[in-house]
Amino acid sequence: MKNIINNARIIELLRESDEYLSGAEIASNIGVTRVAIWKRVNSLRKKGYVIEGSPMKGYKLVQLPDLSIEEIKNALSKENLKIGSDLVFYKTLSSTNITATELALKGYSEGTVIIADEQTDGKGRLGRRWISPAGKNLYISVILTPPISPRDATILTILSAVACCIALKKLLPIPISIKWPNDLIVNDKKIGGILTEIKADIDKIFLAIIGIGININLDLEDLPDDIRETATSIKILTGEHFCRTTVVIEILREIQRWYDILLSNGKTDLLLQWQLHTSTIGRRVRVKIGNDVFKGVAETIDSEGLLILRLPDNSFMKVNAGDITMLREWES
Ligand code: BTN
Repeated sequence: MKNIINNARIIELLRESDEYLSGAEIASNIGVTRVAIWKRVNSLRKKGYVIEGSPMKGYKLVQLPDLSIEEIKNALSKENLKIGSDLVFYKTLSSTNITATELALKGYSEGTVIIADEQTDGKGRLGRRWISPAGKNLYISVILTPPISPRDATILTILSAVACCIALKKLLPIPISIKWPNDLIVNDKKIGGILTEIKADIDKIFLAIIGIGININLDLEDLPDDIRETATSIKILTGEHFCRTTVVIEILREIQRWYDILLSNGKTDLLLQWQLHTSTIGRRVRVKIGNDVFKGVAETIDSEGLLILRLPDNSFMKVNAGDITMLREWES
């Protein structure tokens, strides 16, 4: 028990400091010897904490363990966030959205977050599968019970896309944008997606599950041939392994921030943010709805989050579901 407390305290001290902390400083703060600190730092390194050590300067926390539920809980509980106040982790499951729905129906409350290291049957939009190998990506579902009408459900998808886009932009210098309605895109390749599922009657949403998948440490070889040209990951883009813990914390913080804004101010701020972060508006696009294909210019999104498409005859069409492809200059 004492060791656990010491470990937690050492991490806390290192996390709070941007500079190196000497072994003597940490030791006197905790009330143990420098040798004891050295032993604990080594045991933390074995748990995945990357701690730099220098005989002259001391210790510096460089990276959290790759997917540490303890660290996520720790970070969120300090900020008293409702999103993530209950965090349920699975090594493997079929789909976090399915488990989130089951848990919500059993009484798990708003803000509960389900995280998996692997999905055996990850679900994408429009009935597609979502590639979900172990140890590489993020698969998260958030349980919400928003007091909004089912007509406004698209705003939840917009909220999640905005939150993920802002979170990733904060962490990484990559040109990430949102493709309508909720694909996360870098250089026209998909790095993440969101699947929102709701249970509602005619005027009330009982349950919304926001499912988020972000490709973090996926390698090109992990991608099946059919999506190798159109998908990417942080590791493929930067060549470096990225810490999943850090991404989860930032995404959940942003979801909380934008959910609070939605509930207190309504949709306007979110729609504006979506416009700021999208790469769809103004582009020529092809829209596939069932077997029908339409081409036009993506003009804007309306107050319900629907895409307004200007067709070649200058008439307008509202698109509320479907698959869009951005056309390049030479494509007709
Ligand atoms: C899309 O097709 O763009 C949406 C992909 C959503 C994938 C995530 S991964 C976590 C959650 N659980 C699922 O089965 N799907 C979503």
